[in-house]
Amino acid sequence: MKDVAGKVAFITGAASGMGLGMARAFADAGMKLMLADIDADQLREVEQEFSENGTEAASLVLDVTKREDVFAAAEATVERFGKVHVLCNNAGINVGGTYEELSQQDWDWVIGVNQHGVQYGISAFLPRIKAHGEEGHIVTTSSMAGLVNAGPGWGPYNASKFAAVVMSEVLYSELKESPIGVSVLCPGAVATNIGEAARHRPTEYGSSGDKPVVAGGVEELLAQGLNPDVVGKLVLEGILADQFYLFTDPRMIKSVQRRFDRIQQGFEWSANSRTLVNANAPGAAGGS
Ligand SMILES: NC(=O)c1ccc[n+]([C@@H]2O[C@H](COP(=O)([O-])OP(=O)(O)OC[C@H]3O[C@@H](n4cnc5c(N)ncnc54)[C@H](O)[C@@H]3O)[C@@H](O)[C@H]2O)c1
Repeated sequence: MKDVAGKVAFITGAASGMGLGMARAFADAGMKLMLADIDADQLREVEQEFSENGTEAASLVLDVTKREDVFAAAEATVERFGKVHVLCNNAGINVGGTYEELSQQDWDWVIGVNQHGVQYGISAFLPRIKAHGEEGHIVTTSSMAGLVNAGPGWGPYNASKFAAVVMSEVLYSELKESPIGVSVLCPGAVATNIGEAARHRPTEYGSSGDKPVVAGGVEELLAQGLNPDVVGKLVLEGILADQFYLFTDPRMIKSVQRRFDRIQQGFEWSANSRTLVNANAPGAAGGS
């Protein structure tokens, strides 16, 4: 988008952390805001912040795992502001634990919020952004865990965040010729309230019990992470530059390279495997 002033943004997970950072950056740039979050109390406080500084903002309590509610939120946004231009699929949670430790409800909740919630957002908002023919942008918050293996205990989070990257890549390819840009935000450590994610777990998914939100003692790393308001500004800069991949910690390219080194080793092993060589398979060593 070349200009965002006066345009309308819908943000999920807007009551805290990076979603709030995005809302603040967008408000400073003159945007109108529809703030959505599952945490009604926190949302009220945040809406107050914006009404005090003169931002045109409204809010709605939303659980992004509820498909019909996400569609109703899209409708409510258009009813309130006339149009919607920017969607930030940002709400996200986690439960840490190995395959043996995690329950089916743990998996369902993490995939429900981080993966299905993103898809519902795109499906509900894309037709409404397309409808007015003006510029728009869809930003999805994934993670570095959407590009690299975060290690033991990260199964559902890693899986859902890989899905968020791939859904964004597909969307980018589908919208390449349109005035709607696409970005995927892959943060490293950011100092947010994600450590309290279990608070937002609806009863239908049971309880997280004593399972940590993040596995492997990452809490300390998060506390020392980047300020989420900086991430909000980065997202705004990315929208204005029509930049697809947004990274908050450029040093982490090394982790992505390590993953590709392992994948490359897999290709080399396969090309030299007895099975493919004996079959004279395309691409096998000594073959055509
Ligand atoms: N903090 C980090 O270091 C980090 C790193 C990489 C990616 N992320 C991702 O960033 C995104 C934002 O998280 P954050 O770190 O700002 O955490 P946060 O907990 O501060 O903010 C997340 C917000 O999402 C809301 N939320 C939770 N479940 C919801 C639901 N079902 N429907 C609607 N809203 C819901 C919460 O109430 C909260 O306000 C998430 O997708 C997270 O996975 C965070």
